[in-house]
This record gives sequence, structure tokens and C-alpha cells, in this order.
Amino acid sequence: MTTITSVSREARLFDPPEAFAKAARIPNREAYEAMYKRSIEEPDAFWLELASELHWFQRPTQGLDYSNAPHAKWFADGTTNLAYNCLDRHLESARRNKAALIFEGEPGDVRVLTYQQLHREVCLFANVLRRLGVEAGDRVAIYMGMVPEAAIGMLACARIGAIHTVIFGGFAAEAVRDRVNDAQAKVILTQDGAWRRGSVVPLKANVDKALTETPCVRHTVVLRRTMNDIEMEAGRDHDWNDIVKSVDAKCPAPALPAEQPLFILYTSGTTGKPKGVLHTTGGYMVGAYASTKYVFDLKDEDVYWCTADVGWVTGHSYIVYGPLANGATCLMYEGAPNQPDPGRFWDIIERHRVSILYTAPTAIRAFVKWGDHYPLKHDLSSLRLLGTVGEPINPEAWMWYRRMIGAERCPIVDTWWQTETGGMMMTPIPGAIPTKPGSCTVPFFGVRPKVLREDGTEAGPNEGGLLVVERPWPSIMRTVWGDDQRFRDTYYTRFPPRDEEGKSWPIYFTGDGARRDEHGYFWVMGRVDDVVNVAGHRLGTAEVESALVAHRSVAEAAVVGRPDELKGQALVAFVTLKQGEVAGKTLKDALLEHVATEIGKFARPDDIRFTDGLPKTRSGKIMRRLLKEVAAGREVKGDMTTLEDFSVLAKLSKDDE
Ligand code: PRX
Repeated sequence: MTTITSVSREARLFDPPEAFAKAARIPNREAYEAMYKRSIEEPDAFWLELASELHWFQRPTQGLDYSNAPHAKWFADGTTNLAYNCLDRHLESARRNKAALIFEGEPGDVRVLTYQQLHREVCLFANVLRRLGVEAGDRVAIYMGMVPEAAIGMLACARIGAIHTVIFGGFAAEAVRDRVNDAQAKVILTQDGAWRRGSVVPLKANVDKALTETPCVRHTVVLRRTMNDIEMEAGRDHDWNDIVKSVDAKCPAPALPAEQPLFILYTSGTTGKPKGVLHTTGGYMVGAYASTKYVFDLKDEDVYWCTADVGWVTGHSYIVYGPLANGATCLMYEGAPNQPDPGRFWDIIERHRVSILYTAPTAIRAFVKWGDHYPLKHDLSSLRLLGTVGEPINPEAWMWYRRMIGAERCPIVDTWWQTETGGMMMTPIPGAIPTKPGSCTVPFFGVRPKVLREDGTEAGPNEGGLLVVERPWPSIMRTVWGDDQRFRDTYYTRFPPRDEEGKSWPIYFTGDGARRDEHGYFWVMGRVDDVVNVAGHRLGTAEVESALVAHRSVAEAAVVGRPDELKGQALVAFVTLKQGEVAGKTLKDALLEHVATEIGKFARPDDIRFTDGLPKTRSGKIMRRLLKEVAAGREVKGDMTTLEDFSVLAKLSKDDE
């Protein structure tokens, strides 16, 4: 691949609505340009100034420290506490009685926690963690659904300097086990079960299964939510509500170094093993705070709703840390968008008067499919800003979102970023930047993105290439937990460092393909490697392949993505069977079930095709590029000189199932 061919030529342009721009913090393009320029020319001063809007026990005097490149440090001589900034800071003002979290359960129960109440819950739980022997630097796994206690657990860890690793509640026991072991977590926070589409996801039972192979874990704390039967082992498992009663509510926030590790979040890589992306406190805090403030143009009276799960980075940065550091009112919804019917989101917006909605293209595509009639039934006039994240949004879904949900009144912020970047990297600033459907538009402050050709030269306008970021920003990941070499290899070896200003600057490779149009707008085209993005979940195909191959009937498997109207990408698995095994519906179902237990339901392939062989290179590498073409029903083209056996490809192309 020398360049990536881009076929999209979307030309519609929408100016920020006048009324919105007038009231916005950054009200026009010139104001954005001036701020952006300063953030690039004087990054240290720019970020130190933003940092000073937050509380520091010891004020930092240093911005970036890149003496150990590619490992960035930010604000390294400062001390702070993220939980203090999300909670205690607001107790000094009238915000103390403002709703911090408005929780709506899937069954319809609503619970509001003011800043004062949330502060108390976090202090109590921080003392619970200490009582269970958790100290600064220790790891705590959080395997929960979307309930306030998940946020309370995260904030309690942040308060005492413990490192949380949130494991998405859709993962199965095996995935929990691997992540807990990799992080060497001492404690797991979980629930009896989580509500999902009216049924109970048995979280504690999954933890019990994982616990048979996680010797590092000493305790679990179990929240009662669904009241299903669970087993509790005395001395090891504690009931959340009981143990909270046994501790004090006083828990002063200690001053922690800016580079205190904050969380590990596992994300799929190209090899089977997930990468533990490590973020630290000060830089991440300032990044999440500043992006939330400017991109959502938050006002004190907003009701802000991010529909992501806390198990993904969006939930970390834009449900918990960014909004709470800004003193916002955040809505948190526990369940599915179509429970009890596909109007649930619109009903929530109407009842809680939500003013900012941040969701994913995959959800928008599902709403389009379910029909206009659901949003039309509800009063959505409280909305003033819309956002999307997680994958490229197709222009028609964007147009539907703008018209049907935003009534052509709300700007849309299409925010491009990654688990690794900690916060938003490219996004419109809603009062300042005209938008184009499908483009994440321009860089956020301090971010220097470029589209490069394979040889490292910069791609021309509208020429597809590889997306990189020059220079570190505050919320960049610090390393891969337990595997620093992988951090360097994955992000910093694709392009050689560049010498500028008498220094050598490593280039961060995002793994995404992109193009920049004639107006300087960025269009992200998705992953260039074998990671696929299914319904906003970034999946390593290798992980799904290893799950399939773990089944006793399977010899070999190759999993690729195929464009899917609803999910962005759907998984297609090509499977060869062991001798004597019979292909057919029974086995197909068994394999789907198998992937669901190994990884989680969301990773089940949409299509399983049995085949006698897979197209491979002479050195034995599966040629996924060819399989992608077959899966998409396209004619297989391109370089095939390395293909070992042409007859395999001929057979694959006729889908004989
Ligand atoms: O391919 C890009 C896509 O999602 C990847 C990051 O996935 P993850 O680490 O799971 O984080 C998702 C939430 C930030 C990116 O490399 N992606 C994310 N947002 C966008 C996007 N692609 C296009 N447009 C976006 N707005």
C-alpha cells in the first residue's frame, strides 16, 4: 500500500448556527485560529495556563518534559488529585448542590447524586479500598455495568492514587481473567448482574469463573443491582453496601505527583493480546478538562449525556473525568437504546431536558433503521449540541442526525481520537468551525496531525495516507502496561523521528488512514491494519481468530471486516475445519456461541464461511486483503504474486454455503 484511495467527495458545508456561535466561548474561526496558533507556538505556556484553572497542591512550572522520548511527561513538578478536581473543587461554590450524575436505570428507576453526595460516596469507597489493602499504585479492576458505582469506584481509585482498569461488562470470563492477570489487580469491583435489554448479565458469576485463574485477586466488592442469586465467598467477597457502612466518610485527597498512573485500559492490537494503555494523572486531567470545556462548550445549566459505556475510553474521559472536572451535570443511562422500544433515547432526552448528546455513528445508524417515527414522537427542543465518536460517520447518517435529532439547529461535533490519545484530537469547535458531514474537520489545541505517504513525505490535498501526530500533547498515553517495547514498536517505529529546533521528535503513528481536503479538513478512513471497528467496538481480528481456533472442530480461521450499513463493519470469519468435522448450521451456531463465551456477544461474526483452505503467502501469512474483497463480495484485484495457491481463492469466491 503506497497510498489509500479515497473515493468520498462530500462537499456540503454548514456554518455554525448564529445563535449558537453568539453564546459560545470560541465564537468564530478567527478566535479558534488565534488560540490554535498559540497552542502550537507556545505549547508549555498554553497548557500551563489551562492547567491553572484546576486545583494543584503544588503548581506546576513545567509543561512538556520529553527528555525520555517517546515517553512524554507533563506538568511533572506539580502535584494534584483528579478526584479532588472532579469533586472537592466544586464543594466551595453553589455547585455543591448541583446534580453531578443523573442516573436512569434500564427498568426506569432514576437516581440523582449532587456533587456533595457523590463526594461523600467516593470518600467512603476510597476508605473501603484502603481497608482492603489497596495502596497508591495498586491495580483495581472494575467489571460493572453502567451504574453510578462504576464512576464512584473509578473516582475512589483516583483519589488514593490506585490504578483502575475498567473491563467492559460485555466481556466474558476469559477476557476478564486475561486483563486482571495482565494488570495484576488486587481487587475486583463488580455487580450481581447488570440489566441489558430486560435480562440479567451475570457479572458476578463471570467473575467467579475468572477467579479460578487469577491468583493476584484478594477481594471483590459486589454491588447488588439485579438481585439474582450469587455466590459470596466469606472473607474474599464483600457486599458493597455493607462494607461501605463499616468505614469513615472522611478521606482527604492526598497530593499526588502529576505523573501518578491513573488507569490502564485494554485495547485491541494486531496480535491476539490486548494492549494495556496507561494514562497518568496531570496531563490526562488537563486534556479531558480542556476538550470537554471547549468542544462541548459546556454551560452550567447544561444536561450533558454521553451514551458510551464506562468500559471504553469515551466513558472515562467524557462521562466521568472531563465533565465532572468541569462541574457539569451528566446523565448516565444503564441500558439498551431499544428497551422497552427504540424511542428510549428520545424519551430520556425529553424527560431530563438533555441539552448535549454525544453518541456513536453505529447508534445513529440503528436509529435510522428503526425509523423517524420514534424521534418524531418526542420533544427534543432541549438539545443544543450533538456529537459523535468511535468511527467514521457516513454523511447520510450525519445528515439524518442533523435534521431529525438536531432540527438543523444544533451543530454536530464529529470527534476523532483514540484510547491512546486520552482525549479528542480532531474536532470542530462548535461555535467556530463550519462542518462537513463525515469530516472531523480541524485539530484540537496543541495537536499537530499530518497525513503521510508510506515514505514519510506529506500527502497532497485529498490524497489518502497514514495519519500521524507530531509532538506530544498532555493526554497522550505513557506506555503499554508491562510491555514498553510494544509501546515503541506500535506507535513510534512506523516513521523515523524528525529533527527540528535542534531536537529529535518521534512521530506518533495512529494506525488510521486519512486524507486532508483542499480546505485543510481531515477525513479519517479507519484502521489500516487488521483491527476492525464493529459497532464502535474496536476489535482485533486476531483475538476473534484465536477464539475460533480454540474450538475443537476448527483448524484455522481468518477474520476480516466487511462494510456494514448498521455496524460500520461486520465480521466475516473464514474457517477451515479439522479432518472429519462436518460443516453446517449446527457447527456454525456452536462457533458463534463459542466466540460469545470467549470474548463476548458483540464479537460474534455476522457470517461464518467454511472453506477448505485460506489464501496465504509463501511464508504462510494469511492474505487478509484478499479475504476482505471476498467478504465484501467484490472482485479480487491487486497484487497476488505472493499468493501460494490460486485454486483456494477461486473456491472462496463462489460462496457455496
Ligand atoms: O479508527 C479510529 C476510530 O476509532 C479508533 C479508536 O478507537 P478506540 O481507541 O476504541 O477509541 C474510540 C473512542 C475514541 C480510531 O483510531 N475513530 C474514533 N473516532 C472517530 C474514528 N474514526 C473516524 N471518525 C471519528 N470521529
